[in-house]
Amino acid sequence: MKILVLHGPNLNLLGTREPGVYGSLTMEDIDAKLVELGRMLGAEVICRQSNHEGVLIDALHDARTWADGVVFNPGAYTHTSVALRDAVAAIGIPVVEVHLSNVYAREEFRHKSLLSAVCKGKISGFGWQSYALGLRALVEG
Ligand code: DQA
Repeated sequence: MKILVLHGPNLNLLGTREPGVYGSLTMEDIDAKLVELGRMLGAEVICRQSNHEGVLIDALHDARTWADGVVFNPGAYTHTSVALRDAVAAIGIPVVEVHLSNVYAREEFRHKSLLSAVCKGKISGFGWQSYALGLRALVEG
């Protein structure tokens, strides 16, 4: 089994970006933990990040050709991007939406996700473990 872990905008700054909200692990720390968890679960985990909506769309299209599922943190595009929603709906492989923070305990504009309805499920509020739970759900589900 092969799983894409896809990080959206500003997640490359994890570690120094608002650590009170997002924790002190870097994105590379999280990726290493997910690769290791994947190994334990018998899955190959490939991690990508982009700050650009079109590059994230291309990564989702590409995943269609090789991945069995996607763990996706769309960052702020969660709340704005019809194009990413359409890409998730188009690719025909399960996508789990994940967020480090509990978006429902934050500003109201974060309560709305344009992607949730086309994702297999959504995990929010468990820090890096949101990704781990999403990965486990895809591999074991
Ligand atoms: C986030 C939540 C989003 O609202 C925010 O724009 C992010 C990160 C999270 O992981 O908690 O960039 O997706």
